[in-house]
Amino acid sequence: MSNIDLNQVKLAANTEIDNTSSLKELGDLRIKYLARKGIIAGLFDNINKVEATSRPECGKQLNALKQEVTEKINQKALQLETTQTQDAGAIDITADGILPILGKEHVLHRLIEDACEIFTNLGFEIVTGPEVETEFNNFTGLNIPLEHPSRDTFDTFYIEASKSNQKLLLRSHTSPVQIRVMKTRKPPLAVVVPGRVYRPDAVDASHSFMFHQIEGFCVDKNIRFSDLKGVLNLFLKNLFGEDIKMRFRPHFFPFTEPSAEVDISCIICKGRGCSVCGRKGWLEILGAGMIHPNVFKNVGYEARRYTGFAFGMGVERIAMLKYGIDDIRLFFENDLRFLKQF
Ligand code: PHE
Repeated sequence: MSNIDLNQVKLAANTEIDNTSSLKELGDLRIKYLARKGIIAGLFDNINKVEATSRPECGKQLNALKQEVTEKINQKALQLETTQTQDAGAIDITADGILPILGKEHVLHRLIEDACEIFTNLGFEIVTGPEVETEFNNFTGLNIPLEHPSRDTFDTFYIEASKSNQKLLLRSHTSPVQIRVMKTRKPPLAVVVPGRVYRPDAVDASHSFMFHQIEGFCVDKNIRFSDLKGVLNLFLKNLFGEDIKMRFRPHFFPFTEPSAEVDISCIICKGRGCSVCGRKGWLEILGAGMIHPNVFKNVGYEARRYTGFAFGMGVERIAMLKYGIDDIRLFFENDLRFLKQF
């Protein structure tokens, strides 16, 4: 065994180690050179063929070679490990980001907020009331006679087993909040009431046993029908657009006198007549009127001193007209494909 043999082994090992690109190949090289039956061990085996005098020197050189190859392989292993983990966890900064799915307000909630904001800008305050009401607030206080059909169980959910002598019910409109506010406060009042109401209707494309209303009322000395018209005109133009037209049709409500139903020019056909407005060019949008003197009496107001107007509208109906939705059930099914559109 000569220096040349050792140098050749060293050279071969170095080039082979340098050229490996995987830990697997490197493992093979470790076996090839350093294992018990590997090349370097083979050289050690041959040491007795060397002249006795040069054996110590030869052994030294072999140990040095073994050491060198071991270190080189260890170093290479380290290098391969780090580049491999870097590759695996590499971040492609040019890749498209993943948009997180953001929640948003329900379309009805958005509409209620928008409507309330228009009214607060006009000086109204927002008041809410409970969904479980007394018969007095929901009917009697509002001048609705005992024999009125809206009182029977086909039109109102009554709550059984109420301990008080007052019958309790799920409010069938937001008007009882008029009674609540007027019973506890004195005019001037300008109040808007958003909220849920309940009626035992069979569910179909245009009926739901629960829906939303926005009530509004204003009481002071000298409040006139023209104030009602002015407020509703501003509100409807704000909500539906400047070019919308409004008209009042005579109507009847027990709690207002005179009463009216208010229409807007059809937002789909702009009044020309289409399937949404039934070729009429007008859409019924809310009920309104001047608060009946009996209502003032029922809350203890001096009916001669004050006048006021009130109006009430269905939120689902307005949303359906505004967005061209033909089935009320869509609002409550919470299908994301529907809700995402708004
Ligand atoms: N409460 C009436 C309804 O639910 C709407 C309304 C409110 C009408 C106030 C006039 C005044 O149909």
